[in-house]
Parts: sequence; C-alpha cells; structure tokens
Amino acid sequence: MSSSQRQLHLGLFLFSTGYHPAGWRLPESRTDGAFDPKFLHRVAQQLEEAKFDFFFLGDALASSADMQNMFPSQMVRLEPFTMIASIAAVTEKIGLIVTANTTYAEPYHIARLTASLDYLSGGRTAWNVVTGADARAALNFSREKHWDNTKRYDYADEFVKVVKELWDSWEDDALVRDKESGVFVDESKVHAIHHVGEHFSVAGPLNVARPPQGQLPLLSAGTSERSQELGAQFSSAIFTGQILIEQAIEFYAGIKSKLTKYNRNPDELFIMPGLVPLVGRTEAEARAKYLELSELLVTDFNLAPLSGRIGIDLTGLPLDGPLPDLSLSTHPVHEVQQLVRLAELASGHEDISVRELFYYFTATARGHLLIVGDPEQIADHMEEWFVRRAADGFNICPPYMPGGLDLFIELVVPVLQRRGLFRTEYEGSTFREHFGLARPDNQFTRTSALQGS
Ligand SMILES: Cc1cc2nc3c(=O)[nH]c(=O)nc-3n(C[C@H](O)[C@H](O)[C@H](O)COP(=O)(O)O)c2cc1C
Repeated sequence: MSSSQRQLHLGLFLFSTGYHPAGWRLPESRTDGAFDPKFLHRVAQQLEEAKFDFFFLGDALASSADMQNMFPSQMVRLEPFTMIASIAAVTEKIGLIVTANTTYAEPYHIARLTASLDYLSGGRTAWNVVTGADARAALNFSREKHWDNTKRYDYADEFVKVVKELWDSWEDDALVRDKESGVFVDESKVHAIHHVGEHFSVAGPLNVARPPQGQLPLLSAGTSERSQELGAQFSSAIFTGQILIEQAIEFYAGIKSKLTKYNRNPDELFIMPGLVPLVGRTEAEARAKYLELSELLVTDFNLAPLSGRIGIDLTGLPLDGPLPDLSLSTHPVHEVQQLVRLAELASGHEDISVRELFYYFTATARGHLLIVGDPEQIADHMEEWFVRRAADGFNICPPYMPGGLDLFIELVVPVLQRRGLFRTEYEGSTFREHFGLARPDNQFTRTSALQGS
C-alpha cells in the first residue's frame, strides 16, 4: 500500500491469560500474569517498544467461579486505577486506558482518580466510560438490581459532564506559586462548578489541579443507541466488537455521521474494533496453534448458543457431521454464510463440521474477530478493514499470553510499518498526541475570555 497520512492505531486489550478461553492451557502460556507486576510491566514496556498507542484494561464489578471456562481473565484481575498507576511508573510513552463504571461511582471520585493518574503518567491516561456490562454488580453495591439502559445512560451523561467541569475547575495557570509576593494561587482562576442536576450536586472545585492533558480523552464501547450518542458527543475512541466487515463499515459510518450534531469533526473520533490475531511464522504453524487451542477448550459442547447465533437448531446433530443447509437459517442467510466462511478460513478448509464451527464460535463468543494466518495474511486483513473504513485501528487481543503478543509484535508490526500503515516512532508523549488530538481550552477560561470581549 502506498503510504498515506492516515495511520493505524494499535492498542492492547489485556486478557492476562489470552483472549482464547483455553489460551492459558498451552504449555508455554503464563497462567498467573494477572497478579504479577513484573509480567504486567513487561507487557506494557514491550508495547511501548513496538510503538503501540495504548495499553487497555477492562473492568467489571462482579465475579463468580463459573466464569473459569469462558472468561478466566475477566474472573479475577487487578483493580484498574491501581494497576495503571504501577504501569505508569515503568513506562514513558504508551497511552494508558483505565476503565471506570459510572453506575456505581461518584463523579468527584472519578475526576480525582483520573486527574491524578494523568499526572502520574505524564499525560498518558484516558478513561473508558462504562455503565456496567455485568448486572450482578448491583448485588455488590447495596442495590437490588442493575439499572436499565435509560437510567444508566441518563446518569452517565450527567456524570461525564460533571467530571469534565471538575477537570477544568482550576485554570492551567491558576497555581502561580510566587515566592516573592506570597501568592500561591490566583483565586480568580479557581472555579466552583456549582453543579445541581437530576442525579448529582457537586460544588467543586476539584482538589487536583487541571490535568496535564487538560481534559482526559474518553473512550466508550456501548452498542445501544444511548451509548453511541454518548460516544459521539464525548469519546475520542469507540471500542467495538465486529466480526463481519460489511457490518463494521456500517457501524463506522453510523457513528461518524452522528458527530456533526455535536459540532465535532469525524477525525476526532477513532473506531477501534477488537482483533484476535492468531499468527504463526507460517500459515501452517498458525493453524496448528488454532487447532491446539480448540482442542484444549473445556466444554460440554452445548450447541444451544451457537444455534441461536446462526438461526438454525444444531442440537442433536453429530459433532463430526456436516453443517445443515445454511439457507434454513432464520437470520439473514448471507450473514450466516459469512460467519461460516470465517470459521472455514480459520480451520483451513471448506465443508467444516459442527465441531469446527463450535470451536470458532466459542473462540469469538465475546464478539471479536479471530484471524488465523501468517504475518502477511494478518496484515492484509487489518489493511482491508482500515482502507475500507471499517476501522481506524485495532484493539489487539492476543489469543494467549505472552506468546500471542510476542509473535504479533515480532512478525506483524514490522509488516504494518513496512506498508506505511503504522508508526515507527512516537511523535508525542501523551495519549492525545498519539491520536493527533488537540489539548482543549479550559471551558472557564474560554467563558471569561468571551465575557471580556
Ligand atoms: C471492546 C469492549 C470493551 C468493553 N469493556 C468493558 C469493561 O471493561 N467493563 C464494562 O463494564 N463493560 C465493557 N464493555 C461493555 C460496554 O461498555 C457496553 O456496556 C456493552 O457493549 C453493552 O452496550 P450498552 O451499554 O450500550 O447496552 C466493553 C465492550 C466492548 C465492545
């Protein structure tokens, strides 16, 4: 590809035992990385050497032991603010995304924690705004049930506005620290926010000075209309799970078209689908690893969820028999055909069995696309999604750790760089700079300037 101005953005979506549910069972995989600071530091430093945009840790506020076969990495992990603070101390350039849930928090707390992390990381922090994918969280926070989508996003909208005001409550030059005059702070540049809304009343100001990035970039990942509006209004990047390119293109265009309503430029928001790259030095090596992982799944081969996914009842069919006629599907047939095609590509042959479709479905059940191939094949896929505007970059989810990440960095990143798709050096040192996002003016400074004029 000829080099163009537009560049791919790459982040790591950390699953400490790998994205594949059986990733931890490979002989070479680490099983205990989630709680080992040395492991986590090494991963972040490795990403920085490879010039990744960011390291991202998701979060949930509930758990149970029965998550072990499908979601071992999400069952138990470190609290994000604490972990990211530790990583900030051993890295210098890589962006750091911390997840905080608005449904079970107070804006003052989150403004304070995020602003503090932005200082500790030298302007490298961004906030993934979630309203909570796990409804069981309610039971851990003295509530009877998780709020519905409307209430969660009403709350989140107001929450985010309050946090943004708190970040601005100290103008950039409020702290004059003038030894001569004895003036430590210019009080005219410190603003109580006096927020009184439907859900929050917050006087302000914050007790942390304006963060290095002024306003931390926000990220979001919801699928509902309300979440997409929140993203279009406030987010710098949207995470998404997309398997089929046509749907991904539609999603991309749909989100970007919402931005004008908020006086935003489509280039200020980056769409980042997840990608699970199962890379080998050769295609055969990658395919052998995929098969090895598939056979390590701990499963009772319950075909009900897969039947729902493809709109054909597979229960009772022999696992090693052929798939039924796909035109029987109650879903759009071409989508089911494309899903099966992806499973065939991963398996390396056509006419896959029910078992082989089950393997692919289980590996991608969390919604991110798994591609099996050699470095050029993985890069081809990424380039196609990037050029056709299905993606501005990818949230890389290595299928096993650390080997899956090592191979991606060693083999795929250089191909992307050679094709002019990915940076070979950082141009800046903050999260905003990695994405070419300007540092916003302080809303209070702007208002006083307008009043002055
Ligand atoms: C890539 C990706 C990462 C996500 N990370 C989290 C997370 O860390 N914590 C969380 O509660 N939800 C997470 N979610 C879920 C979304 O925030 C959102 O709640 C979910 O997609 C449902 O959409 P809705 O909130 O619009 O109904 C993630 C979703 C995606 C696609």
